[in-house]
Amino acid sequence: MTKICCIGAGYVGGPTMAMIAKQCPDVRVTVVDINERRIAAWKTDDLPIYEPGLLEVVREARGRNLFFSTDVDQGIRDADIVFVSVNTPTKTFGEGAGCASDLQYWELCARRIKEVSTSDKIIVEKSTLPVRTAEAMERVLHAGDNPIHFEVLSNPEFLAEGTAIADLENPDRVLIGGHETASGQKALQTLVDIYATWIPRERILTTNVWSSELSKLTANAFLAQRVSSINAISALCEATGANVTDVAHAIGTDSRIGPKFLKASIGFGGSCFKKDILNLVYLCESYGLQEPANYWRSVVAMNEYQEARFVKTMLRSMFNTIANKRIAILGFAFKADTGDTRESPAIKVCRELAGEHAKLVVSDPKALDNARLEMPELADQIEFEPDPYKAAAGAHAIAVLTEWKEYKQLDYQRIYDSMVKPAFLFDGRNLLDHDALYGIGFEVYAIGRGRKSHLK
Ligand code: UDX
Ligand code: UDX
Repeated sequence: MTKICCIGAGYVGGPTMAMIAKQCPDVRVTVVDINERRIAAWKTDDLPIYEPGLLEVVREARGRNLFFSTDVDQGIRDADIVFVSVNTPTKTFGEGAGCASDLQYWELCARRIKEVSTSDKIIVEKSTLPVRTAEAMERVLHAGDNPIHFEVLSNPEFLAEGTAIADLENPDRVLIGGHETASGQKALQTLVDIYATWIPRERILTTNVWSSELSKLTANAFLAQRVSSINAISALCEATGANVTDVAHAIGTDSRIGPKFLKASIGFGGSCFKKDILNLVYLCESYGLQEPANYWRSVVAMNEYQEARFVKTMLRSMFNTIANKRIAILGFAFKADTGDTRESPAIKVCRELAGEHAKLVVSDPKALDNARLEMPELADQIEFEPDPYKAAAGAHAIAVLTEWKEYKQLDYQRIYDSMVKPAFLFDGRNLLDHDALYGIGFEVYAIGRGRKSHLK
């Protein structure tokens, strides 16, 4: 029986391992993490992350061939294959601060693996890492007089939060990078065979390690670039009277462009996009490629502009003052169907509104616990209210920052009646029916389309 251990029970490690365990009953999967609370939660039905469909998958495999533990050393020792899925945040200190990945957790893992292993192992990079990290890992793993052989593979994960289970069950592709040596190819084949249990072979792509590492950074950079491109056009639409949704539809029907990832928004968030682009920027710079670095950096700059522009629109339309005005924030997660708030554009929007001395009431169906942790410095300026009706009552404005489908189904007449007039609604996701809202009496502002106003 093949034994897998995954270090890191987060948004990536947890769902990925649950899916492997579900699909491969003959493989024993143990997920380990240094965070005791997280591991304890994985053992209950109150999982540490919200992801539609995840609980069903975990329940099917848990206790059968899926196990969760804080005993990292034991997990590593027992395994034939060790996935490393620890977080790799942007460095906040020293060389490359604000751009490069902080690899200290990764290196600690490598050292731990080397220290406790008593048999040969395949080590799989699941975390997104800069190109050539595998090489560094190999040096750590094979330092000194080590009789044990570690074969490092790169197997980046492309799942998106909120659709993780569907993405894992039926991925566009799985990517595995291995060395072009006999032992590299053998290890690669072992991992291919595991995925081939449920994924058609032609969708399992194999490359060398560096191409695999770079493909993951590139995929996220391209996706983010599409969002920044349409957001750039949204600003032009607002200035000219074009409608960004129509423009996106018109260009998306060109099969060379395609319809996905063309939704104008307050900006992209999430743990990956910004981090991975900055990582790419750092890589380019470290190879002396300043123009490519500038090109990718502008994708992040465009995103920051879009967030700031939204707040400016709010301020200007509310007569240039929002001090002491109650503003209901509907949605704090970085996208719908997740409780994750990492790099959510809502953080920047809330900080700037708070800077104008607005009184904020934040509502979200799944992300309030994380939202509370994001802005400790604003504790006395922000209320958290799970009920959107209560959040909106007495407010001057509503800002929709996450595209939760729940917000489409609210009774906006009831909300309007409970608000201060004129009642403003800023739709940062172009989620709602703006004509209907205008009909009720709202002052409606959306992204990339003209405002609908009753004011002179
Ligand atoms: C992932 C990827 O790994 C990262 O590269 C990608 O770019 C973002 O998504 P994610 O699963 O979202 O990370 O991160 P997180 O939810 O923070 O999970 C990482 C887990 O690793 C945490 O539970 C943390 O406790 C654990 N960890 C971290 C360890 O067990 N050991 C360590 O040394 C460090
Ligand atoms: C992303 C990648 O999609 C995934 O392949 C990778 O493994 C991890 O990073 P994720 O961060 O979970 O996944 O979310 P994603 O769906 O890509 O959305 C990222 C951000 O872009 C969100 O804030 C989302 O709201 C925003 N977005 C997305 C838009 O503003 N407009 C769009 O059209 C699409």
